[in-house]
Amino acid sequence: MRTALTDLVGVRHPVVQTGMGWVAGPRLVSATARAGALGILASATMTAEQLRTAVREVKSRTDEPFGVNLRADAGDARERVRIIVDEGVKVASFALAPSKDLIAELKDSGVVVIPSIGARRHAEKVAAWGADAVIVQGGEGGGHTGDVATTVLLPQVADAVDIPVIAAGGFHDGRGLVAALAYGAAGIAMGTRFLLTSDSTVPDAVKACYLAAGVKDVTVTTAVDGLPHRMLRTEMVAALENAGRIRALAQAVRRAAGFRRISKIGWSRMVRDGLAMKHGKDLSWSQVLLAANTPMLLKASMVDGRTDLGVMASGQVAGLIEDLPSCAELVERVMEEAYTALGAVSGAMSPSGD
Ligand SMILES: Cc1cc2nc3c(=O)[nH]c(=O)nc-3n(C[C@H](O)[C@H](O)[C@H](O)COP(=O)(O)O)c2cc1C
Repeated sequence: MRTALTDLVGVRHPVVQTGMGWVAGPRLVSATARAGALGILASATMTAEQLRTAVREVKSRTDEPFGVNLRADAGDARERVRIIVDEGVKVASFALAPSKDLIAELKDSGVVVIPSIGARRHAEKVAAWGADAVIVQGGEGGGHTGDVATTVLLPQVADAVDIPVIAAGGFHDGRGLVAALAYGAAGIAMGTRFLLTSDSTVPDAVKACYLAAGVKDVTVTTAVDGLPHRMLRTEMVAALENAGRIRALAQAVRRAAGFRRISKIGWSRMVRDGLAMKHGKDLSWSQVLLAANTPMLLKASMVDGRTDLGVMASGQVAGLIEDLPSCAELVERVMEEAYTALGAVSGAMSPSGD
């Protein structure tokens, strides 16, 4: 299926696997790329050196294009951009709007820039600054999220900008792809659906929690880092919500120290990143500390399999997902379903009904 997205990044199918911290590593990304979709490496939970190694690992497994997701406000964003350029990575994806300079630097080097946004005005801003496309995430999406549903946000953004729009938040099948195309999108991006594949390295016991979840088992909480964060509702989330401010803070400091040890990121960089996160947002200092803590809570589940100690970021769509296909099976199935849905729609519209 050819769309503005497949033309822009050179993939066979208009499907993106999004950058998910601790989840979207070389194995998932290369499996997605080999399946003909765009895989995006999550780098916010890696050091710059780990990012370079991960990029090389993907390149050793596939010649297909792929992307890297990074935080525009990270203290070492420029170093990461250098790695992306040096290693010839096709796409740079951003969790927060990158600066005009950063976009220009990447584009001058031939990298396709695709920020993720959750509001029309952010899409308009990055489009004016030269972004090549945007991923629009509606409120049903996993991880940090907004409160406007994809069905409202997507057409609003598609009408507002001239660059390709990729729809995210709540997609898991080919019907969703066709619906997104009908709204004016150039493709879909999926997080939770790709987490739940046999190629994802998330421990089986954790995948089982997602598979068991119903739609109502996915919640939005600010208790983890002060920002609305969509995840599976667990006893851990309830404990965080019920912990008093002091206890939550003490836990945050302990976990932030753990993340610092594992990620080898110094306190000064963590504080710098925390300050950048605080900048322009109404975050208190305790929220900044809690934010520094989020990677540890995600790692406990996604890497160590400790669902009792960690959190499981998730889209509402987890409630609809019941299997663990490989990325190749998933992408092929989504495309088959999309063609079937297209046939059904045009059949329904034909005057004779056949
Ligand atoms: C486990 C998990 C981790 C995530 N981590 C990140 C991240 O590090 N950076 C980012 O930009 N988005 C992150 N997200 C959001 C996804 O990239 C994506 O936008 C979202 O999952 C789309 O919604 P869906 O889950 O309904 O497909 C994460 C989502 C999940 C489920």
